[in-house]
Amino acid sequence: MIIYDKKQHIFQLNTKSTSYMIGITPEGYLGHIYYGERLQHIDGGYLLRMEEYPYTPERNKREKCVFLESFPMELPTGGIGDFRESCLDIRDEHGCLGTEILYKEHRIYSGKTPLEGLPASFVTASQMDTEDAGTAVQTLELICQDRVLGVEVVLSYTAFEREDVITRSVRVHNRGEQTLTIEKIYSACLDMDYEEDYELLTLPGAWARERRIQRRRIGYGRQSAASIRGESGHQEHPFIALVTPGTTQTQGDVYAMHFVYSGNFLGQVEVSQHDMIRMTMGIHSYEFGWKLTPGQSFQAPEVVLTYSSEGLGKMTRSLHDFYREHLIRSRYKNTERPILINNWEATYFDFTTEKLLDIAQTAKDCGIELFVMDDGWFGRRNNDESSLGDWYVNEAKLTGGLKYLVDSINKIGLKFGIWFEPEMISPDSDLFRAHPDWMIQIPGREPTLSRAQGVLDLSNPEVEEYAYESVARILRSAPIMYVKWDMNRQLSDLGSAYLSKEHGRELLRYVLAVYRMQERLIKEFPDLLLENCSGGGGRFDPGMLYYSPQIWCSDDTDAVERLGIQEGTALIYPLSTIGAHVSVCPNHTVGRNTPFVTRGHVALAGTFGYELDVTKLSEEEKALIREQTEMYHTYQLLIRNGDYYRLASYAENHYYDAYMVVSKDQKEALMTFVQVLAEPNRRSRKVHLQGLDPEAVYYCDVTQREYTGEILMKGGMLIGDLWGDAVSRLYHFEKR
Ligand code: GLA
Repeated sequence: MIIYDKKQHIFQLNTKSTSYMIGITPEGYLGHIYYGERLQHIDGGYLLRMEEYPYTPERNKREKCVFLESFPMELPTGGIGDFRESCLDIRDEHGCLGTEILYKEHRIYSGKTPLEGLPASFVTASQMDTEDAGTAVQTLELICQDRVLGVEVVLSYTAFEREDVITRSVRVHNRGEQTLTIEKIYSACLDMDYEEDYELLTLPGAWARERRIQRRRIGYGRQSAASIRGESGHQEHPFIALVTPGTTQTQGDVYAMHFVYSGNFLGQVEVSQHDMIRMTMGIHSYEFGWKLTPGQSFQAPEVVLTYSSEGLGKMTRSLHDFYREHLIRSRYKNTERPILINNWEATYFDFTTEKLLDIAQTAKDCGIELFVMDDGWFGRRNNDESSLGDWYVNEAKLTGGLKYLVDSINKIGLKFGIWFEPEMISPDSDLFRAHPDWMIQIPGREPTLSRAQGVLDLSNPEVEEYAYESVARILRSAPIMYVKWDMNRQLSDLGSAYLSKEHGRELLRYVLAVYRMQERLIKEFPDLLLENCSGGGGRFDPGMLYYSPQIWCSDDTDAVERLGIQEGTALIYPLSTIGAHVSVCPNHTVGRNTPFVTRGHVALAGTFGYELDVTKLSEEEKALIREQTEMYHTYQLLIRNGDYYRLASYAENHYYDAYMVVSKDQKEALMTFVQVLAEPNRRSRKVHLQGLDPEAVYYCDVTQREYTGEILMKGGMLIGDLWGDAVSRLYHFEKR
C-alpha cells in the first residue's frame, strides 16, 4: 500500500480508490505531488516543477525565495520566505521565528501508533489479524530535521485501504540545547494547483442551528472555518472540503479534511499568486504557544483526509465507515443501545423523586429502556444561576437520595443515566467560595460569565482531579449505566492562576485534561454509555467521538429543524453517533407542531429516544411510542451499520427531504421521506434510490409490490398521497 521508489525519491500511499504522492527534492524538501484517483504506476516527480523559476530572468538559477513561494510543500514552515500560510512556526531562544525542515529518513510499517494523550484513529490487533485483502492499514513516518533549531519533526501518514482515508499528524522533538516555543503547528497541508473554480464546503451554524451545509466559491486570498472558543463550537466546524463546481451526491471531486480535536482550530484554503491552493487544518494559533525544553516533544492532533471522485455521497460513506471502524470505541458500538427518555424538556429544573418515578413508570409501559435525569439534581440547582461544581445530591428534591431513585427506577425495569457538567463552576457555588482561583479568569478583570457560569481551570491537576472525582464518586454510589457529559459555555478571559507566565498560552492543556478525564471514566466504568453534549451540538467532533459513541446533536428537537441539522451532521458522521429525540409539541425551541409519527421517523435517523413528559401524553400518543420503540428495534441494526445515501435535501428544495440506508449486503434498505410543505395540484414526487443491487428484485412494504433495484435507482420511486405539512413515511425494501 505504501511504496517508496528509491530511484525517483517518491512515496506513494494507496487506498482502494485513491493515491497520494510525496517527493523528496535533492535538498531534502518534501513536496506534494498528487492526491486523487488511484494510480497504478509511480511517476510524476516532474509535477513538483523543479525546473521552473517564476519571475527570475536567469533561467539557470533558482533563488530560494522564489522556490519557496511556489513549491508545493507537504508541511510548509514559516519565517524563511514562503509567505503563504505556514504549518509550523518555532521561536528560538533569541526570539527569532524561523523553521525549515528537511528530510532525514523514513519508516514504513503495518498498523498505526497511538498519539499520546490525544484521541486518534486506530487499528486493533484483531482488525490486523483478520486483515483480508483490501483492509490493510499502513503508516509512513517521514523524519525531518531542522539542524539550526535542533528539532526533529515527524510527519505521520496512515493509509486505511478499505475506507479510502489517509490520516496525518505531526510530532516535534526538541533534540537540541535551547528552550523553544512552538507558536503554530497545523497537522495537515494539501498544496494543489488552482485548476478549477473550487468551492469550499463548510458546516457553520449557531446554537440550535448546528452544521448547515454551506458552499462558496473560493478566490485569491484566505478563506477559512475556525474556532477560538475553546471548543470546536456550534458556529464553525473542524471540517472543510474543496469540491469541484457542480459536485453532487454522486459526481464531482471532493477533497476533505476533518480534525480529530475538540478545541480551537483553523481549517483554511489559501489561493496564492502562482495559482496554487494551500489547504490546511490544525490547532488555531490564537492563544497558542507551547514551550519545549530540551528532550521534550509535542504531538499535534490528527487530521482525517479523504478524496472522492464520485461526489459527496462517497465521501460520506468513507467517513462513516472509517469512524465506525477506526475511531469509536465503547462496548455499545456494536450492541443495541437502549432507548432513553430524558427529563430535560419534560420538567427542566422542576422535579421530585416522585415525578421522575412517574415518568419512568409510564416510559417503561411504552417500551422505553433507560431513564436519564438531566440538569438540576445537585447542590441548590433550581435554575441555571448556581451550583455548578457542587456535585452532591440535592436531597430536598430527590427525597430518599440518589441510590433510592436509581434502585426504584431499576425496579421499574429501566436502566439509569445522569447528567453532569464537570468542566464548569458557578460563581454562586460552594466550590467557588472555597476556590475562587479555580475559575479561568484574568486577574483584576471582571470575568465574562455565560449562562451565569465560569469554566474550571483544568490546566491545574488538582482541579482536574476534583472534576473527575465529582463524576466518579456519584457513579460509584449507584448502578448508573449512562452519563450525559455537558459543556454549556465557551472559553473567554483566558487567565490561569496555576500556569506560570511562560505557559500562559497553553490552552490546549484544558482540552487534554478533558480527554484524560473521559479516558479515565470509560476505563473505570467500562460498561458506561457516555454521551457528550455542549449546549446541544457545540462539541460534536471526532475528538469527542473517541470517548463517546454518541453526541447530543442539537438542543433543537423540532422535527423540521432537525432535518437540516441532521443532514449536515450525517454528511460526515455516522447516524449511530447522532443524538436524536422525540419531543413535545408545540416544540419548545420554535413553537412548531409536527405529527408524532414524523418526530419518530426523524429521530430514528439517530440514536433515538424521548425528551418529554410521557405522563401528559394521550393514550393514542403512548400507543405511538409503543409502535416507535418496536420500529427502532426492527431497524436499528440496519441504521447503525448500513450505508447512508442522501436522496433529496429539504434545506435545498424547501419542500421535502429524503434519505436512505442500505445494508452492507444490499439485502435490505430503509428510505425516509418527509413532505415538509404540501403543495396543491402536484403529481407524485420521484425519488431516485441509491446503493441497491441493480440486478435484484426488492419488495416494498408500503406499495406492496416488487421492483428491480435497477428501476428504483434509474427510473425512481414515486411518492404520492401524502397529505399535510411535515408528514413522513418510511419505505422498507427487502431483497426477494
Ligand atoms: C444543555 C443541553 C441540554 C440540557 C441543558 C441542561 O443545553 O444541551 O440538553 O442538558 O444543557 O442545562
